[in-house]
Amino acid sequence: MKNTKHYTFEIHGDERGSLVALEKTRNIPFEIKRVYYMYGTSSDAVRGCHAHKNLEQILICVNGSCKVRLDDGNEKEEIVLNKPNEGLYICNLIWREMYDFSDDAVLMVLASEYYNEEDYIRNYEDFLRFIRENSR
Ligand code: TYD
Repeated sequence: MKNTKHYTFEIHGDERGSLVALEKTRNIPFEIKRVYYMYGTSSDAVRGCHAHKNLEQILICVNGSCKVRLDDGNEKEEIVLNKPNEGLYICNLIWREMYDFSDDAVLMVLASEYYNEEDYIRNYEDFLRFIRENSR
């Protein structure tokens, strides 16, 4: 889908195990202002269910697995995140829902802006309207 992208990060591995390094503008395409993560998520929970007016994010399931539904108002896509060195880049104005979390899932998100509730579009009809009005 346009405005989303898959990243595979280099694994620095040796007999001790694996290490992944994330650096702004080197392998992350924005300045990271915020990191948050979700864990202990119920398997029947659906998180997200919103879009952002102005925010870039990378989702990395650093442990376990979860699924992500993406919707840009025209196209829908479902993605499985189950590798700690894979990232899903999501630009602004993409509706996202995260679901099917495994018991051990830890979903980490890197974000280009600080938390700002005003940047959220939490109603799907408002999201579609926002896209229509801003694509004229
Ligand atoms: P919420 O937006 O419901 O999470 P999700 O999109 O994953 O369903 O956020 C849950 C709570 O956490 C809500 O009270 C807002 C707060 N929160 C922050 O304080 N900072 C943050 O960076 C995020 C993402 C959420």
